[in-house]
Amino acid sequence: MSKRPIIAGNWKMFKTVAETRAFFNEFLPLVSGVSHCEIVVAPTFTSLGTAASAAAGSRVAVSAQDVYWEKEGAFTGEISVSMLLDAGCAYTIIGHSERRQFFGETDETVNRKVRAALAGRLQPIVCVGETLAERDGGKAVEVVRRQVRNGLAQLTESDLSPIIVAYEPVWAIGTGRTATPETAAEMHGEIRKTIGEIWGGPVAAATRILYGGSVKPNNIQELMRREDIDGALVGGASLDPASFAAIVKYL
Ligand code: PGA
Repeated sequence: MSKRPIIAGNWKMFKTVAETRAFFNEFLPLVSGVSHCEIVVAPTFTSLGTAASAAAGSRVAVSAQDVYWEKEGAFTGEISVSMLLDAGCAYTIIGHSERRQFFGETDETVNRKVRAALAGRLQPIVCVGETLAERDGGKAVEVVRRQVRNGLAQLTESDLSPIIVAYEPVWAIGTGRTATPETAAEMHGEIRKTIGEIWGGPVAAATRILYGGSVKPNNIQELMRREDIDGALVGGASLDPASFAAIVKYL
């Protein structure tokens, strides 16, 4: 199983179609020589097709920011796995903390989405992470272990191989307050331990675990030096082509 690092950009609710086109025009030449990691960009639904066309033939893959588990039907506002594949996505983020905080996402809905994505061969980037109150209350490890166990419930050993986990402490997202590499690596170790308890050591060792939360060009290198950190999920700093390219080229 490949353990290539992944640097993924989560654009959240930013960028029009024209802005997406402009981003790729500037970004692709900057990363054309990169082969040490996989590069993923997650635009909004309306820009997925544009991003996929722009990235065709490059090393950049396109991800959605969310997905619904049903195949089709009367589910106003939702988008299915096959629709995302059709738009050119290879990945989807699932269970981002903003979905959990503002849109009622639960471990159970995360799990349904993960299983639907796997069934359709869309690669899930499953987000977990504790809030500040949970960390201050000494509950961080317990919360994250629960999110991993429940979010990945019912999966088999072979289901785990495409799974990417992103540890994003909520207190570090968009706050400029990055977790120290030690804090991040410690939780990555806990996540790996949890996976190991359920699916065994080799599966845990092969699972890629990304860190997210105020990743910037000036802190990526230190984070990536930690053995347990297999990449990054980048929000704000992925919106600017030069800054995202600098993160991708962390070596
Ligand atoms: P940030 O966002 O890099 O802006 O903190 C990370 C994320 O939410 O994925």
